[in-house]
Amino acid sequence: MRRGLLLLLVACASPRPEQPPPAQDRAERSRALFLQASRVFLHPRCVNCHPDGDSPHQGMEARLHDPPVLRGVADEGVVGMRCDSCHQEHNLELARVPGAPHWHLAPRFMAWEGKSPRQICEQMKDPQRNGSRTLSQIVEHNAHDKLVAWGWSPGHGREPAPGTQEELGKLVAAWVESGAECPAEGARP
Ligand code: HEC
Ligand code: HEC
Repeated sequence: MRRGLLLLLVACASPRPEQPPPAQDRAERSRALFLQASRVFLHPRCVNCHPDGDSPHQGMEARLHDPPVLRGVADEGVVGMRCDSCHQEHNLELARVPGAPHWHLAPRFMAWEGKSPRQICEQMKDPQRNGSRTLSQIVEHNAHDKLVAWGWSPGHGREPAPGTQEELGKLVAAWVESGAECPAEGARP
């Protein structure tokens, strides 16, 4: 009885440490953060360059690239039809050609076309399929990469990706900090 009272007193007197959110809430929050970020990943400004095939896509309706071009062995086009023979380091407004430094296709194993947020999440975490990146490098890529940045200044009246690149960087950082959980298969943003 006495001992119990003493413990109670000690417990009341000591300052309460910040209660971390229960693991369940944290995982739930992490999944919600990825879903929100996938509004950007699934936008045509990103998916057109992350196709599940050998050709990039164009426009909001993601039609096949016109003129027809192929990714080639290095995802940079083929002889005579290299991406950088048309795409410069910046948008060419008169010719309507979008541009950013080293314009080329995301490798096939980074395809997002036709994938669910969960599938994109799993592959973005997987060093075998994300270009051997750590999670902090994934945050960095989303926050600062120049091809990603183009998604918010696509030129020629194209619809930009949702939000801003800074917001995407923060979302992905918060997703990683909360445990990098992936949404359920059926979940959509
Ligand atoms: C012009 C083509 C192009 C566009 C547009 C593009 N990407 Fe990519 N993306 C690439 C290439 C190429 C790579 C591979 C780069 C590497 O591994 O060095 C890549 C890789 C990535 C990666 C790292 C690997 C992975 O899949 O996890 C992320 C994250 C990414 N892109 C996000 C985006 C987002 C977000 C957008 C739209 C706002 C976007 N990209 C638009 C070409 C593009
Ligand atoms: C012969 C010139 C030419 C070549 C070569 C070329 N492109 Fe394009 N590309 C264009 C033009 C022009 C547009 C704009 C079409 C439009 O918006 O009407 C375009 C648009 C795009 C878009 C669409 C952006 C969007 O979201 O609407 C992507 C992605 C793209 N190109 C990727 C590539 C990649 C990757 C390569 C190399 C494998 C490549 N292109 C090679 C001329 C070219």
